Amino acid sequence: MTVALDVATPDRSRALQLPPCSHQTAPYLGPGREKILELRRQHVNPALFTLYSEPVMLVEGHRQYVWDETGRRYLDLFAGICTVACGHSHPKIVAAVQKQMALLAHGSTAFLHPNMPRFAEALLAKLPPSLDRIYFVNSGSEANDLAIQMARLHTGNADVIGIRNAYHGGSAPTGALTGIHTWKSGVQRGGPVHHALNPDPYRNPFSGTPEQIASRSAEDVAELIRYSTPGQVAAFISEPIQGAGGVTMGAPNYLPEVYEIVRAHGGVCIADEVQTGFGRTGDNFWGFERSGVVPEIVTMAKGIGNGLPLAAPGPGRASRRHRQRPRPGTHDRRRTGRRPGSQDTGHGPGRPRARRAQGPRRHRGQGWAVRQRAPDQAAAGADGRRCRVRAGGDG
Ligand SMILES: Cc1ncc(COP(=O)(O)O)c(C=O)c1O
Repeated sequence: MTVALDVATPDRSRALQLPPCSHQTAPYLGPGREKILELRRQHVNPALFTLYSEPVMLVEGHRQYVWDETGRRYLDLFAGICTVACGHSHPKIVAAVQKQMALLAHGSTAFLHPNMPRFAEALLAKLPPSLDRIYFVNSGSEANDLAIQMARLHTGNADVIGIRNAYHGGSAPTGALTGIHTWKSGVQRGGPVHHALNPDPYRNPFSGTPEQIASRSAEDVAELIRYSTPGQVAAFISEPIQGAGGVTMGAPNYLPEVYEIVRAHGGVCIADEVQTGFGRTGDNFWGFERSGVVPEIVTMAKGIGNGLPLAAPGPGRASRRHRQRPRPGTHDRRRTGRRPGSQDTGHGPGRPRARRAQGPRRHRGQGWAVRQRAPDQAAAGADGRRCRVRAGGDG
């Protein structure tokens, strides 16, 4: 979704002028906006809504600008909700994607490709050393789903704590954790989740300085664990800055205080960096750095692919303490790696660093588990995937 500011309306044009732009737009030859609106109303599920009663149709983008079908230029202030972090149609990205599509458009993670581990290595160099494995998926919701599953498998606990006013995605587990009523469907969502107080001073029931409000809100997490859970939790998940919630945040002391409480109750801490990662807060590469904390899992999407469907949870401690191998159903790898730029995706939670020193051992991911299954099980479940891989289709 892109929200664009139209600064070229006649009554404001004298006050607000876009700077010159040398980009030559291609003539738009497709159906008109009315026709597209009609087709959309007829054929597309209305849950995929548009903004504005007269939605803008965008047909081209270049860096920070987008154009509608009439050639009107807009300054894109949202970049697809923090997605197009390098701008629209960046020539280097376009060239890389075109080159890759011409070479190999899709590859299953059941085979090696040079790019995925090399990209994982480059990405890990941007994370604290304790976060030492990457698992690539397609969307932020999937990254958070997987992070929650990892936390539950790792801790043996089920309860997950989120924050009111948070957005973590639209899948069953993340929809449950999302704490904004406009993004909740009212349909039963998976697993026990709880919403702690939002530490942002605005609308917080406590008064005082932002730091005092953050501390009182952190104490509320301890109360929540005490009264609403069995006393042990799987995870605490939060956006370092709430994006969909209106760009709100608590004072920097909130996260260290909450992380301590959550860890004392057996849980791991997940930073949802889907909007804040990749330098989008300005001062830091990751939003959690502002609070001086290191989460056990960092989830990322949007800016990681600059519009291509790519996302990742980066698990560290959660996978090191991991004792239960993810089974094939832990995460549906078939959804990963279908599109240009995301073709090199998918691996299980990492093996412990100590084991890495012992020499090459098979990675404990889904591929490993599938290969360990008895032939009859493989025929029933995993073989379907193999068929798709062989057919070069939907694998
Ligand atoms: C903070 C945050 N987490 C998770 C998501 C879900 O990501 P996706 O839409 O790629 O599933 C979003 C999407 O806007 C988000 O802003």
